[in-house]
Amino acid sequence: MMIKGKFITLEGGEGVGKTTNMSFLKDYLSLHGIPVTLTREPGGTPLAEHIRILLLESSDEVITDQAELLLMFAARAQHLKQVIEPALHAGSWVICDRFTDATYAYQGGGRNMSAQAIQWLENFVQGNLRPDLTFLFDAPVEIGLKRARHRSSLDRIESETLVFFEQVRRAYLLQAKLEPERIKVIKSDQALIDVQSEITRFLHPFVFNDHHS
Ligand code: TMP
Repeated sequence: MMIKGKFITLEGGEGVGKTTNMSFLKDYLSLHGIPVTLTREPGGTPLAEHIRILLLESSDEVITDQAELLLMFAARAQHLKQVIEPALHAGSWVICDRFTDATYAYQGGGRNMSAQAIQWLENFVQGNLRPDLTFLFDAPVEIGLKRARHRSSLDRIESETLVFFEQVRRAYLLQAKLEPERIKVIKSDQALIDVQSEITRFLHPFVFNDHHS
Protein backbone atom coordinates (compact mmCIF):
# COMPACT_ATOMS: atom_id res chain seq x y z
CA MET A 1 0.00 0.00 0.00
CA MET A 2 1.19 3.52 -0.80
CA ILE A 3 2.17 5.76 2.08
CA LYS A 4 0.27 9.02 1.81
CA GLY A 5 1.05 10.91 5.01
CA LYS A 6 4.35 12.44 6.11
CA PHE A 7 6.28 11.09 9.06
CA ILE A 8 7.81 13.78 11.29
CA THR A 9 9.86 13.04 14.40
CA LEU A 10 11.00 15.27 17.25
CA GLU A 11 14.30 14.57 18.92
CA GLY A 12 16.67 16.03 21.47
CA GLY A 13 18.04 15.55 24.95
CA GLU A 14 16.06 15.96 28.15
CA GLY A 15 14.09 19.19 28.73
CA VAL A 16 14.59 20.69 25.27
CA GLY A 17 10.92 21.65 24.80
CA LYS A 18 9.67 18.86 22.55
CA THR A 19 6.18 18.89 24.08
CA THR A 20 5.60 22.62 23.51
CA ASN A 21 6.86 22.36 19.95
CA MET A 22 4.75 19.29 19.26
CA SER A 23 1.53 21.16 19.98
CA PHE A 24 2.75 24.08 17.88
CA LEU A 25 3.41 21.71 14.97
CA LYS A 26 0.02 20.09 15.34
CA ASP A 27 -1.76 23.47 15.34
CA TYR A 28 0.21 24.63 12.32
CA LEU A 29 -0.61 21.51 10.29
CA SER A 30 -4.26 21.49 11.37
CA LEU A 31 -4.55 25.11 10.29
CA HIS A 32 -3.45 23.98 6.84
CA GLY A 33 -6.11 21.26 6.78
CA ILE A 34 -3.68 18.38 7.32
CA PRO A 35 -4.89 15.46 9.49
CA VAL A 36 -2.35 14.78 12.24
CA THR A 37 -1.68 11.84 14.55
CA LEU A 38 0.40 12.63 17.64
CA THR A 39 2.30 9.86 19.31
CA ARG A 40 5.49 9.08 21.20
CA GLU A 41 8.23 6.53 21.83
CA PRO A 42 8.80 4.43 23.72
CA GLY A 43 5.03 4.00 23.84
CA GLY A 44 2.04 4.83 21.67
CA THR A 45 0.08 1.56 22.12
CA PRO A 46 -1.02 -0.22 25.33
CA LEU A 47 1.74 -2.84 24.99
CA ALA A 48 4.40 -0.28 24.08
CA GLU A 49 3.32 1.93 27.01
CA HIS A 50 3.80 -1.10 29.30
CA ILE A 51 7.30 -1.49 27.89
CA ARG A 52 7.87 2.24 28.47
CA ILE A 53 7.10 1.78 32.16
CA LEU A 54 9.55 -1.15 32.35
CA LEU A 55 12.19 1.01 30.69
CA LEU A 56 11.74 4.18 32.70
CA GLU A 57 10.90 3.04 36.23
CA SER A 58 13.80 2.70 38.61
CA SER A 59 14.15 -0.81 39.97
CA ASP A 60 16.65 -2.87 41.95
CA GLU A 61 17.33 -5.07 38.94
CA VAL A 62 19.80 -3.44 36.60
CA ILE A 63 18.55 -3.53 33.01
CA THR A 64 21.37 -4.68 30.73
CA ASP A 65 22.24 -2.50 27.73
CA GLN A 66 21.15 -5.27 25.36
CA ALA A 67 17.80 -5.69 27.12
CA GLU A 68 17.26 -1.91 27.00
CA LEU A 69 18.01 -1.79 23.28
CA LEU A 70 15.74 -4.73 22.49
CA LEU A 71 12.89 -3.35 24.59
CA MET A 72 13.12 -0.05 22.68
CA PHE A 73 12.76 -1.93 19.42
CA ALA A 74 10.06 -4.26 20.76
CA ALA A 75 7.98 -1.20 21.66
CA ARG A 76 8.78 0.33 18.26
CA ALA A 77 7.74 -2.81 16.33
CA GLN A 78 4.34 -2.77 18.01
CA HIS A 79 3.91 0.99 17.63
CA LEU A 80 4.78 0.93 13.94
CA LYS A 81 2.29 -1.79 13.04
CA GLN A 82 -0.53 -0.61 15.29
CA VAL A 83 -0.31 3.16 14.96
CA ILE A 84 2.29 4.75 12.69
CA GLU A 85 1.89 2.71 9.49
CA PRO A 86 -1.95 2.61 9.54
CA ALA A 87 -2.08 6.38 10.12
CA LEU A 88 0.37 7.13 7.28
CA HIS A 89 -1.51 4.78 4.92
CA ALA A 90 -4.77 6.52 5.79
CA GLY A 91 -3.23 9.85 4.77
CA SER A 92 -2.64 11.27 8.23
CA TRP A 93 0.66 12.91 9.02
CA VAL A 94 2.34 11.41 12.06
CA ILE A 95 4.28 13.49 14.56
CA CYS A 96 6.22 11.24 16.86
CA ASP A 97 7.98 12.42 20.02
CA ARG A 98 11.26 10.49 19.59
CA PHE A 99 12.03 7.60 17.24
CA THR A 100 15.09 5.62 16.12
CA ASP A 101 17.44 8.63 16.17
CA ALA A 102 16.95 8.47 19.95
CA THR A 103 18.21 4.89 19.91
CA TYR A 104 21.37 5.92 18.03
CA ALA A 105 21.84 8.81 20.47
CA TYR A 106 20.97 7.15 23.82
CA GLN A 107 21.85 3.48 23.32
CA GLY A 108 24.54 4.16 20.69
CA GLY A 109 26.05 7.41 22.02
CA GLY A 110 25.10 7.21 25.69
CA ARG A 111 25.58 3.49 26.27
CA ASN A 112 28.23 2.92 23.61
CA MET A 113 26.28 0.16 21.92
CA SER A 114 27.29 -0.87 18.43
CA ALA A 115 25.82 1.25 15.63
CA GLN A 116 25.76 -1.87 13.42
CA ALA A 117 23.54 -3.70 15.90
CA ILE A 118 21.18 -0.73 15.99
CA GLN A 119 21.20 -0.50 12.20
CA TRP A 120 20.38 -4.19 11.90
CA LEU A 121 17.42 -3.83 14.26
CA GLU A 122 16.30 -0.67 12.46
CA ASN A 123 16.17 -2.52 9.13
CA PHE A 124 14.57 -5.59 10.70
CA VAL A 125 11.80 -3.67 12.47
CA GLN A 126 11.20 -0.79 10.08
CA GLY A 127 11.99 -2.16 6.64
CA ASN A 128 12.31 0.95 4.48
CA LEU A 129 10.34 3.24 6.73
CA ARG A 130 12.29 6.33 7.87
CA PRO A 131 11.06 9.74 8.99
CA ASP A 132 10.56 12.31 6.22
CA LEU A 133 11.60 15.16 8.48
CA THR A 134 13.20 15.28 11.93
CA PHE A 135 13.56 18.27 14.21
CA LEU A 136 16.50 17.97 16.55
CA PHE A 137 16.06 20.43 19.41
CA ASP A 138 19.46 21.17 20.81
CA ALA A 139 20.49 22.96 23.99
CA PRO A 140 23.41 22.69 26.41
CA VAL A 141 22.93 19.60 28.55
CA GLU A 142 22.80 21.42 31.91
CA ILE A 143 19.99 23.74 30.73
CA GLY A 144 17.80 20.83 29.61
CA LEU A 145 18.45 18.76 32.72
CA LYS A 146 17.56 21.69 34.96
CA ARG A 147 14.23 21.98 33.15
CA ALA A 148 13.61 18.23 33.36
CA ARG A 149 14.39 18.25 37.08
CA HIS A 150 12.07 21.19 37.64
CA ARG A 151 9.22 19.41 35.80
CA SER A 152 9.10 16.19 37.85
CA SER A 153 11.29 13.67 39.62
CA LEU A 154 13.79 12.07 37.29
CA ASP A 155 13.11 8.66 35.72
CA ARG A 156 15.71 5.88 35.30
CA ILE A 157 17.26 7.30 32.12
CA GLU A 158 17.00 10.96 33.18
CA SER A 159 19.04 10.02 36.27
CA GLU A 160 22.10 9.27 34.15
CA THR A 161 25.32 11.29 34.47
CA LEU A 162 26.22 14.53 32.72
CA VAL A 163 28.83 12.61 30.73
CA PHE A 164 26.09 10.28 29.44
CA PHE A 165 23.99 13.23 28.25
CA GLU A 166 26.98 14.93 26.65
CA GLN A 167 27.52 11.72 24.65
CA VAL A 168 23.83 11.65 23.72
CA ARG A 169 24.01 15.25 22.51
CA ARG A 170 27.18 14.62 20.53
CA ALA A 171 25.65 11.54 18.86
CA TYR A 172 22.51 13.48 17.89
CA LEU A 173 24.55 16.32 16.38
CA LEU A 174 26.70 13.84 14.47
CA GLN A 175 23.60 12.21 12.96
CA ALA A 176 22.34 15.64 11.91
CA LYS A 177 25.67 16.25 10.16
CA LEU A 178 25.38 12.94 8.35
CA GLU A 179 21.77 13.52 7.28
CA PRO A 180 21.32 17.28 6.90
CA GLU A 181 18.47 16.90 4.41
CA ARG A 182 16.27 15.06 6.91
CA ILE A 183 17.46 16.26 10.31
CA LYS A 184 17.03 19.97 11.04
CA VAL A 185 18.82 21.23 14.13
CA ILE A 186 17.01 23.96 16.04
CA LYS A 187 18.60 25.72 18.97
CA SER A 188 16.02 25.41 21.71
CA ASP A 189 17.65 27.83 24.15
CA GLN A 190 16.45 30.80 22.09
CA ALA A 191 13.12 32.67 22.27
CA LEU A 192 10.12 30.43 21.54
CA ILE A 193 9.02 32.68 18.68
CA ASP A 194 12.37 32.12 16.97
CA VAL A 195 12.15 28.36 17.52
CA GLN A 196 8.69 28.39 15.97
CA SER A 197 9.67 30.47 12.97
CA GLU A 198 12.46 27.98 12.21
CA ILE A 199 9.99 25.11 12.50
CA THR A 200 7.62 26.71 10.00
CA ARG A 201 10.48 27.52 7.63
CA PHE A 202 11.47 23.84 7.48
CA LEU A 203 7.85 22.63 7.31
CA HIS A 204 6.85 24.97 4.51
CA PRO A 205 8.14 22.87 1.58
CA PHE A 206 6.41 19.77 2.96
CA VAL A 207 3.09 21.51 3.52
CA PHE A 208 3.11 23.22 0.13
CA ASN A 209 4.30 20.13 -1.70
CA ASP A 210 7.45 21.55 -3.20
CA HIS A 211 9.70 19.20 -1.27
CA HIS A 212 11.55 16.71 -3.48
CA SER A 213 12.95 13.71 -1.69
P1 TMP B 1 10.84 11.15 26.92
O1 TMP B 1 11.39 11.58 28.25
O2 TMP B 1 11.19 12.07 25.82
O3 TMP B 1 9.41 10.76 26.95
O4 TMP B 1 11.65 9.81 26.50
C1 TMP B 1 11.77 8.75 27.36
C2 TMP B 1 13.21 8.39 27.57
O5 TMP B 1 13.56 7.27 26.73
C3 TMP B 1 14.23 9.48 27.29
O6 TMP B 1 15.10 9.54 28.41
C4 TMP B 1 14.98 8.97 26.08
C5 TMP B 1 14.81 7.48 26.15
N1 TMP B 1 14.85 6.78 24.85
C6 TMP B 1 15.95 5.97 24.58
O7 TMP B 1 16.87 5.85 25.37
N2 TMP B 1 15.98 5.31 23.36
C7 TMP B 1 14.96 5.38 22.45
O8 TMP B 1 15.03 4.76 21.39
C8 TMP B 1 13.83 6.22 22.78
C9 TMP B 1 12.69 6.32 21.81
C10 TMP B 1 13.82 6.90 23.98
